[in-house]
Amino acid sequence: SSSNFSVQELVKQPIKTIPQHYVRQPVPSAPCGGHRPSQMLPTIDMNRLVSGKDFDVELGKLHSTCKDWGFFQLVNHGVNSSILEKVKLEVEGFYQLPLVEKMKFRIREGDAEAEGYGSTERDGGKFDWADRFFMTTNPNHKRKPHLFPQLPSSLRNTLESYISEVKTLGKKLLCLMAKALDMEEKEMMGYCFDDGMQSLRMTYYPPCPQPELVMGTTSHSDFSLITILHQLNGVDGLHIHKDGAWFPVSFLPNALVVNVGDTLEIFSNGVYRSIEHKVVPNVEKERMSVAFFINPKFDVQVGPAPSLINPQNPPLFKTVSLDQYVKGFVSHKLNGKSHLHNMRIDRD
Ligand code: SIN
Ligand code: FE2
Repeated sequence: SSSNFSVQELVKQPIKTIPQHYVRQPVPSAPCGGHRPSQMLPTIDMNRLVSGKDFDVELGKLHSTCKDWGFFQLVNHGVNSSILEKVKLEVEGFYQLPLVEKMKFRIREGDAEAEGYGSTERDGGKFDWADRFFMTTNPNHKRKPHLFPQLPSSLRNTLESYISEVKTLGKKLLCLMAKALDMEEKEMMGYCFDDGMQSLRMTYYPPCPQPELVMGTTSHSDFSLITILHQLNGVDGLHIHKDGAWFPVSFLPNALVVNVGDTLEIFSNGVYRSIEHKVVPNVEKERMSVAFFINPKFDVQVGPAPSLINPQNPPLFKTVSLDQYVKGFVSHKLNGKSHLHNMRIDRD
């Protein structure tokens, strides 16, 4: 089953060849030009977006970055560095627990959301080179009783503080994006806050002797409006697909990485872009990350924001219930941006 494999356990013994169920074929070849060098993600300074001074310039930068990149690093984000450090230590600590302890949280058979600890199976029975722990964290009543509430208390308390900080930060960012999109804050908030669905994923990428044969995380775009990523231990590996090519990205150690997901691309009627990305594991070092996903509310219609639609700007996407949207998303199994393309209204 997809839930009882641990790559972390696999690499405890030195391995000479990568087991077949991790080998991706055909190996996605680099488009002409070969490997592209690492690029620094554009930087957005949260200080400037709260202080008033340089506000307009920075808001313009946020807007153009969400249009052109769909990815940025956020500095002066206000999340205390001691909390970031605690998250790192606690998540490291969790992955250092004996397998039997982690397996108490394993993904349960028949869990449609695949919440819990385990690895991820992709098309063709192939697995990502990563162990994951995924769970819904908000609203509170959607927390599965055997997951968040059962975590070791120091991890649970640390995540609780972290979640409350990134949730506040995410809300601020989405209000700023609303402003940049020339939309009322309350229209944006009506789509995703306060009782919106939020979830968290802690990922452990063991070192891999032949990273070019595997996928740490298979290329995909996110379901979320925005995702806030904390790369715990400074080991890079995130690649994004931009202007027709893949390249690795780097960012400052204390920055948080923010990316636009599909449900914001749709809500912004295609103004903001949800960019495909993937993770390539490191040859020598383990990599760890914590991703926080801010998703639409449960009862909303997923579609372009009504205020952005007019005769000059016809809707580029269909409007469907969140339920319908999720069903379509799951059936496309994170296969690139194929689901988003399915939502497109064809115009010639
Ligand atoms: C992902 O986008 O799914 C993975 C991000 C990461 O681990 O850096
Ligand atoms: Fe992602």
